[in-house]
Amino acid sequence: MRKLLMTTAAMALVMGAAAGMARAADNVEVLHWWTSGGEAAALDVLKKDLESKNISWTDMPVAGGGGTEAMTVLRARVTSGNAPTAVQMLGFDILDWAKEGALGNLDDIAAKEGWDNVIPKALQQFSKYDGHWIAAPVNVHSTNWMWINKAALDKAGGKAPESWDELVALLDNFKAQGLTAVAHGGQAWQDATIFDAVVLSMGDDFYKKAFIDLDPATLGSDQMKEAFERMAKLRSYVDDNFSGRDWNLASAMVIENKAGVQFMGDWAKGEFIKAGKKPGADFVCIRFPGTQGAVTFNSDQFAMFKVSDDKVPAQLQMAAAIENPVFQSAFNVVKGSAPARTDVPNTDFDDCGKKAMADLADADKNGRLMGSMAHGHANPAAVKNAIYDVVTRQFNGEIDSAAAVTELVAAVEGAK
Ligand code: GAL
Repeated sequence: MRKLLMTTAAMALVMGAAAGMARAADNVEVLHWWTSGGEAAALDVLKKDLESKNISWTDMPVAGGGGTEAMTVLRARVTSGNAPTAVQMLGFDILDWAKEGALGNLDDIAAKEGWDNVIPKALQQFSKYDGHWIAAPVNVHSTNWMWINKAALDKAGGKAPESWDELVALLDNFKAQGLTAVAHGGQAWQDATIFDAVVLSMGDDFYKKAFIDLDPATLGSDQMKEAFERMAKLRSYVDDNFSGRDWNLASAMVIENKAGVQFMGDWAKGEFIKAGKKPGADFVCIRFPGTQGAVTFNSDQFAMFKVSDDKVPAQLQMAAAIENPVFQSAFNVVKGSAPARTDVPNTDFDDCGKKAMADLADADKNGRLMGSMAHGHANPAAVKNAIYDVVTRQFNGEIDSAAAVTELVAAVEGAK
């Protein structure tokens, strides 16, 4: 009897251990910076999807829009030999980690599910390294948007601006209404996000030569000086407390009728939606004046790190779940982005989402789809950070536009 009892207890132990092991293997640890209301709501769609497949989620959030802080934490984790299963990542950062040999291989699942045919080539250039799939793209955002308070726009006559002059006139009107004309957070990546749009508004070629080709003559041109002048002009419409403000708090100023407009990527729409606001009724989404038809994109991808063999099945299941077309629709409706596949119907998307999807397809077809400098899709981090530094110092009035141009050329040359 005693022996039997012990045997039963031992069996229970063994079974418990087995169950525990199964739990450990069916787990993904995910590092990301989706901590705002809209971002967290979107991430929840992914968490729930995985939970429905019995994959548990260990959350590793690192707050900080644009992911600068997240990338610092990631470096420390990998250096200590403890890489997460999956990491939210942008453009060139993915390729940098691939170069270091830190990423896993998704080729089998990509082939089985035909990713090559449905994921746009513009994204594949960051999801693949040396011909191998290393990351699963979850969305396509773009940076050349503006988010206007509808009531304030109506008071200003209701016409959305289509040129720089019309934009300035609208901002003056918002000011006269007693609003903060431009809701902005003074953080380097946010300043750079506006710079993406301002540079693009001066022409596709100008944007490409400056940020993609890093052409010194373009970076040092009078036109670039004009771009900085425009930044200084926009700076004059920002409130006194903007320094260090998080982007979602700037969105909240437009949502709460305190500010007229925010220049921000379409993750801002996630905040409006989360607050129960409706496009067309409460807010208006348009492309930054002068950038209609062009798109500066950034795609959030989950880079899959090399993990122990027992963790690979859950990692692959996560990658497959991300590329599922039904999930792509559900997630991106909440996130504010367009799907990372070309075959997802736009049925469930609101008007801004439908526009994002149509603009993306058109820009791709017309050769007007360009990687966002501010969000790591034009250059590796070293160059991006060099540009950030100059843009932020000029935006804060530490250097004037002429000095900014000279410094931009030197900073980019030094970082290349
Ligand atoms: C971007 C990212 C978006 C959004 C934003 C603010 O870099 O692609 O998904 O999260 O940062 O955090």
